[in-house]
Amino acid sequence: MDLQIKGKKALVTGSSSGIGEAIAKLLAKEGAHVMIHGRNAKELDRVAKEIKKAGGKAAMVQADLSSDAEAKKAARKTVDELGGIDILVNNAGAFPLRGWKNTTPQDWLDLFNQNVVSAIRLILEFLPRMRKQKYGRFIQFGSCVGTQPFADQPDYSATKSAHILISVSLAKELAGTGVTANTISPGPILTPGVEKLFRQIAAEKGWGKKWEEIEAHVLEDDLYNPCERFGKPEEIAAAVAFIASPLASYINGANIRVDGGNCASVN
Ligand SMILES: NC(=O)c1ccc[n+]([C@@H]2O[C@H](COP(=O)([O-])OP(=O)(O)OC[C@H]3O[C@@H](n4cnc5c(N)ncnc54)[C@H](OP(=O)(O)O)[C@@H]3O)[C@@H](O)[C@H]2O)c1
Repeated sequence: MDLQIKGKKALVTGSSSGIGEAIAKLLAKEGAHVMIHGRNAKELDRVAKEIKKAGGKAAMVQADLSSDAEAKKAARKTVDELGGIDILVNNAGAFPLRGWKNTTPQDWLDLFNQNVVSAIRLILEFLPRMRKQKYGRFIQFGSCVGTQPFADQPDYSATKSAHILISVSLAKELAGTGVTANTISPGPILTPGVEKLFRQIAAEKGWGKKWEEIEAHVLEDDLYNPCERFGKPEEIAAAVAFIASPLASYINGANIRVDGGNCASVN
């Protein structure tokens, strides 16, 4: 199927790693011109080189989206180097594990800034341009925990919930413009960030060192899904590429779960 995204211009935040990297690579493979983004210069360079080696078009920007100035820099560089913007994938985010006993109001503020306001900064930068050109895709990143939160990640869960609501509000704001806003909500996906998190938990709980042993323990409880495994970043990227395409023009304000069935819900 031709996704019709050849020549589209896309900024994928947090594409120096994990899910974002897989999204950037797939969009580039489909012919989009992609702006790679993250904070780790070495990883950005690696991803950009890999895309170019595979025949794709990529530029890169290093920016911490927790800061207004840095987010503005990322937006400006995207428009300057790509010649515009058609697709914004708000994927960057952190998922600290701290329960209610170990959290402070400042932790909540900091995580909302890093995970939510970061996305808002870029949406506000690109909104007028996408509205004017009567085409655009805003794609936010929720999670299963955005609708079924864990006790030990209250602040993270709330930030993911915010993404789901942002897309609904934005879709209404953009009524009749040809610009859509949707959320992708992954279940457990094996990425560098997630592997690090669960290896840390496994060490504390004595679950062993082999990933297969750790995965079996993790899937026993909250992260159980009928596919009985972690998902791959590429499985999220496939959903994002479709939502980013003109073929998805009637999908708007939706929360699309790509979670192996982890989030048991009828809608
Ligand atoms: N993996 C899962 O199981 C899962 C499940 C549900 C939802 N999600 C969501 O999916 C997204 C990606 O997760 P992942 O597992 O791929 O994570 P990851 O491997 O840890 O990668 C996170 C990316 O976000 C970037 N980032 C974080 N904070 C940033 C900031 N303030 N400014 C700029 N860049 C920032 C990181 O950049 P640098 O490394 O360059 O600093 C990195 O590229 C997140 O929003 C996460 O909440 C993941």
